[in-house]
Amino acid sequence: MSKQVADVGTLFLHEAGDEYTVVVRRDGERLLQGRLDLKQTSAGPRPGRFRVKDGDDDVPRRPEQFVEMARRASRIRISEQTSPRGREELESMLGGYQLEAKQVRTCRYCSSKGRYAPLTSETAIKADGEFICPDCARRELEREANYRGLRSGARDRLEELLLEVGDLERVANLLSGQLDPELTKFDEISATTDEIDLVSTRDLDVHGELKSRLQKFDELLPVQSLAVRNGLLEGRDQLVVSATATGKTLVGELAGIDRALRGEGKLLFLVPLVALANQKYEDFEEDYGDVLDVTIRVGASRIRDDGNRFDPNADVIVGTYEGIDHALRTGKDMGDIGTVVIDEVHNLGADERGHRLDGLVSRLKHYCETNACDTQWIYLSATVGNAPELAEKLGAQLIEFEERPVPIERHVTFADGTEKIDIENKLVRRAFDSKSSKGYRGQTIVFTNSRRRCHEVSRRLEYESAPYHAGLDYGQRKRVERQFGDQDLAAVVTTAALAAGVDFPASQVIFDSLAMGIEWLSVQEFEQMLGRAGRPDYHDQGTVYLLVEPDCTYHNSMEMSEDEVAFKLLKGEMEPVITRYDETAAVEETLANITVAGKGAKRLNDRMVGDIPTKHAVGKLLEYEFIDGFDPTPLGRAVTEHFLEPGEAFAILDAVRKGTDPYALVAEMELRDEE
Ligand SMILES: Nc1ncnc2c1ncn2[C@@H]1O[C@H](COP(=O)(O)OP(=O)(O)OP(=O)(O)O)[C@@H](O)[C@H]1O
Ligand SMILES: [Mg+2]
Repeated sequence: MSKQVADVGTLFLHEAGDEYTVVVRRDGERLLQGRLDLKQTSAGPRPGRFRVKDGDDDVPRRPEQFVEMARRASRIRISEQTSPRGREELESMLGGYQLEAKQVRTCRYCSSKGRYAPLTSETAIKADGEFICPDCARRELEREANYRGLRSGARDRLEELLLEVGDLERVANLLSGQLDPELTKFDEISATTDEIDLVSTRDLDVHGELKSRLQKFDELLPVQSLAVRNGLLEGRDQLVVSATATGKTLVGELAGIDRALRGEGKLLFLVPLVALANQKYEDFEEDYGDVLDVTIRVGASRIRDDGNRFDPNADVIVGTYEGIDHALRTGKDMGDIGTVVIDEVHNLGADERGHRLDGLVSRLKHYCETNACDTQWIYLSATVGNAPELAEKLGAQLIEFEERPVPIERHVTFADGTEKIDIENKLVRRAFDSKSSKGYRGQTIVFTNSRRRCHEVSRRLEYESAPYHAGLDYGQRKRVERQFGDQDLAAVVTTAALAAGVDFPASQVIFDSLAMGIEWLSVQEFEQMLGRAGRPDYHDQGTVYLLVEPDCTYHNSMEMSEDEVAFKLLKGEMEPVITRYDETAAVEETLANITVAGKGAKRLNDRMVGDIPTKHAVGKLLEYEFIDGFDPTPLGRAVTEHFLEPGEAFAILDAVRKGTDPYALVAEMELRDEE
């Protein structure tokens, strides 16, 4: 081959029926496309008819022009899709001119359209038992995704997977709920632990009764050790931020029980949910009931609390935020408070309700001051994006520990409502049929968005399971908790009631939906829920499955779809905990603070975590006639004791004036609150 002849590029030959497609490409561009057939001669096959495409026309060329072009090509390639016979014929023809060709793997879809797309082993994607290029594969997947109504987050994920596993069908199968673990696995949160000098329970300087009970553990867990080494037992206020299942409860317990046993004031252990309060109450009663009086306070907001079971003189009060706030707003005497533990303190940032916790903390501080209590404050959370800032606002020392005791594998797969239950069934069975190295069967918590769906899913699981939500009575819930603890249930199916803190020893968490009622989960809520998977004393690892229905929403007010939400949550950054005040929230908290502290209310407002427009709120309170000077009016008092927002209060007043049936009214108010 002479050097002075210009290189025309790569000549590509591909069998198409009785003839061959000819493509010449240089620098990624197609210079020529044509068709060639071969004729048999005594010397072997030789170029016969040769036509070149020019726009829509096929322009005939002399066969010698093909040979000339082949001679000037820098390389000649025969597509892999060419039959052995065709290949032999081409090679024999080229051999007649001392030309050689190599076989090349090319995209079949491209070559069927006369395009030349060579594939390397890295870029080739399997489809229908052949190989295609990423562009064609993407296009195919796109078609499937359009058909399923998939949105961007999920599309990106599927494309990522496509390039990763190089198999179109396998990835597309994911859209019909197949559980290919290599594909569903999104990531793994590892369990590496920092080097922390663990405190031996024998060395703890605590009351003998507490110490003897702690001997069931040899050592404190890392975050507990950190808290103790930083003054937990010397009365320091602490904000403890560490992942779920890292043992935060015991931090509060160490300080609070010790002080209660020493007669240094009672322990108030405050949680956001009734289910959680029940569990903590049971735990404390069981562990310390013989040496301390334990009581529970879970005042419902609307229906008058008759104070049943609640003993304000107890040494340990477990309560919901609202239960205790109700006690404060109605001026109950809770005696000498030695320790306040606020569990799940990230609720300060909850939409709608964050201000109530903010207000409660401020009112409780006021109570402790006016009753001359020397109170230690301990705040616990797994999910705070702005821990140092929050610690400063709370005036507490930050104790942070980042790692998890067991690794968690997170999986995502796609399915519609009915397919989801089949998948859940499979996953629940698989978990329950296997045992951890510690001898425990794998148990599952399924989270879903409505009570009705809890029952539906539970009914359709083959293995023993139970629904669990706030609509069940206390006895029913206790029974489920016990059965789960005894490994008699393979699964519980639950709503948000279990989101935080309840210690169900599950190895697996399945998200049947990513909504709570008619709202998508926040990153915080999501983290809390998935953190239920894998307990250090039971399991070697946790497993999390997100079952995502493409293009699904649970209410027409939802702008994003479930597949979008899924990837937002998986990649989600922990949100900062910020308490925001709109007018309603400001009015509500200011009224409560005035009810509790009169003139002192401004100081209570000022030390809240969120910025509250006090002046404006006071103006509104006067306008609404909820206050008179710095005292609540009888109306204002009723409003605050029932945790009403002004709008609700006026709706009630209105209804009462019109003579609406009180039961209908209550029902309507409760409906507003439904999760
Ligand atoms: N020192 C210890 N040694 C061994 N296990 C412990 C120790 N302290 C606590 N545990 C166990 O660790 C588990 C998790 O504890 P806990 O419920 O307090 O976690 P948490 O940090 O509050 O998690 P969450 O954020 O989910 O509420 C419990 O089963 C508890 O019994
Ligand atoms: Mg907890």
